[in-house]
Amino acid sequence: MISDGNYYTSKKSDDLCDDVCGQQSSPTFVSMSRLRCLLHGLDIRTLIFLFVIVPASIVGIYVHGQKITYFFRPLWQSPPKPFIPITHYYHENVPMETLCKLHGWGVREFPRRVFDAVLFSNEVDMLKIRWKELYPYITRFVLLESNSTFTALPKPLNFAINRDKFKFIEPRLSYGEIGGRFRKGENPFVEEAYQRLALDQLLRIAGIEDDDLLIMSDVDEIPSRHTIDLLRWCDDIPPIIHLQLRNYLYSFEFQYDHQSWRASVHRYQRGTTRYAHYRQTDYLLSDSGWHCSFCFRYINDFIFKMKAYSHNDRIRFSHFLSPKRIQDIICQGANLYDMLPEEYTFRDIIGKMGPIPHSHSAVHLPSFLLENADEYKYLLPGNCVRERG
Ligand SMILES: *[C@@H]1O[C@H](CO)[C@@H](O)[C@H](O)[C@H]1NC(C)=O
Repeated sequence: MISDGNYYTSKKSDDLCDDVCGQQSSPTFVSMSRLRCLLHGLDIRTLIFLFVIVPASIVGIYVHGQKITYFFRPLWQSPPKPFIPITHYYHENVPMETLCKLHGWGVREFPRRVFDAVLFSNEVDMLKIRWKELYPYITRFVLLESNSTFTALPKPLNFAINRDKFKFIEPRLSYGEIGGRFRKGENPFVEEAYQRLALDQLLRIAGIEDDDLLIMSDVDEIPSRHTIDLLRWCDDIPPIIHLQLRNYLYSFEFQYDHQSWRASVHRYQRGTTRYAHYRQTDYLLSDSGWHCSFCFRYINDFIFKMKAYSHNDRIRFSHFLSPKRIQDIICQGANLYDMLPEEYTFRDIIGKMGPIPHSHSAVHLPSFLLENADEYKYLLPGNCVRERG
């Protein structure tokens, strides 16, 4: 019966039981043995369940719990009301009068003044690319920085330190510093709101007036130059309009989608217009620029940003901040927080799962980037390796 080794090992316990249970003995002995065999079989299964499956599930839920809840988001959260898209017409050879008319707007005799206002943290390169892109059409560049991050960590005044890189806008600059409140444990969105309020005051000091255009956006949300030119020249544009931007991650090599919408342009109204970064209207002007998130030169800037800003709760494990891991993730186009796509339908979640495909297009990017491709190489396709900093 036991000539074959494999057979022997795999069937060992059954055979032993068969032997015992198959014996011709008294009925009491037989039922006792049966019970013992039954327990013996259960034991192994119970042990496996208790010591393998249960701990594995607990670890799994701990590590992937956030993913599980995000995956089922379509069940507990419905998508926001859709925007009303405004078709955006542009070609460099088409005159402004025709462009305004294509949008259903009239053309003005002279353009509106334009104010660009940002809260600054550490995005020095993005700020330079942004201001070079917008330079021809901006009346005042308004920048506010704080010595506190939104998460109440002290931070250097990075703009003040790098101010000599921005000499080209110095005559048009309105710069403000604001002291942080440093409330530990407070929701980061409160400090953020406090800083945005201070930006409203700085705008008034900068001399903004009714019907001037005001761009409200983060430093890394860059409207294209021709978009701002269109809005300053055309009459009858909506009082508030969101800008749809192409979404990039880490560099212009990884285009995630084209659905960034938080940036907005306002026809300023004293007493009504408030600096904000949430949805303020239904109108969305298509294809109006670029949003490059986590587009940093140095690995240390990634670490700072992950710790400093409003979503620092997403750093669930300290190894998320390891420079080697961050570098690998940048080159793969994967997610720094190991999260699922934040979408509202299963179709979108599944469609956007996994790393972002590499792009080899550097067409229609900010012109300053291409004119200085050597200096900003890390933002262009094929150059994902970052210096430590
Ligand atoms: C932040 O700035 C304010 C106002 O300038 C100052 O009073 C405060 O000491 C600064 N705090 C830190 C931590 O640098």
